[in-house]
Amino acid sequence: MTAPWTATVLTIFPEMFPGPLGLSLSGRALTEGVWKLRAVDLRDYAHDRHRSVDDTPFGGGAGMVMRPDVIARAVDDLAAGGMAGPRVYLTPRGARLTQAQVREWAAGPGLLLLCGRYEGVDQRVVEAREFTEISIGDFVLSGGEIAAMAVIDACVRLLPGVVGDAASLEEESFSEGLLEYPHYTRPRVWEGRAVPEVLLSGHHAEIRAWRRRQALEITRRRRPDLLNTLS
Ligand code: ADE
Repeated sequence: MTAPWTATVLTIFPEMFPGPLGLSLSGRALTEGVWKLRAVDLRDYAHDRHRSVDDTPFGGGAGMVMRPDVIARAVDDLAAGGMAGPRVYLTPRGARLTQAQVREWAAGPGLLLLCGRYEGVDQRVVEAREFTEISIGDFVLSGGEIAAMAVIDACVRLLPGVVGDAASLEEESFSEGLLEYPHYTRPRVWEGRAVPEVLLSGHHAEIRAWRRRQALEITRRRRPDLLNTLS
């Protein structure tokens, strides 16, 4: 059997994991061995008895910077142990994560995710150990851990067998470069609001066309940038 998809997380808060990844779809898949999670404490790779992983920034400025030597020791140790897959550093300075990138990573052996704290990570180790810098959105979290969880969740749900109904993966937002159409269930009328008539009609072609129009309209209003990249 080939090794399951594996997320290795470098963090100074390994206790944060699996956290929410231990519940619901990802949690069941983790228990079933569909994927593996390894949270590695960066402090285990510190050189001093205080187990320090950060230091003051050259050039001055606020906050602390994570040391390149400590991170490199951790990465090299894991690589020597056979860890495979792309290296990702979670930072608001990174390129914005896309569903296309998630699909590519989910199809590979797994990821090494580096979680920054403080002001960030010394840039030399990002370059020397070939980390891809990734942001999950234009806002700032207090560390990379929650962003790493978001990346892992997005990948794991695409692994074969994790989401029971594969069709729901094909119809969801971004699968066609559009935001998804709206959903409705019972009751048919709720607080005076009726479900759109077409959905009760049983005309599958009309329903498909209506959903497509809704998807286009909501994308045009909320995310016109997505329409420009439609093939
Ligand atoms: N770390 C802090 N903020 C982040 C963000 N928006 N994306 C990824 N990592 C982060």
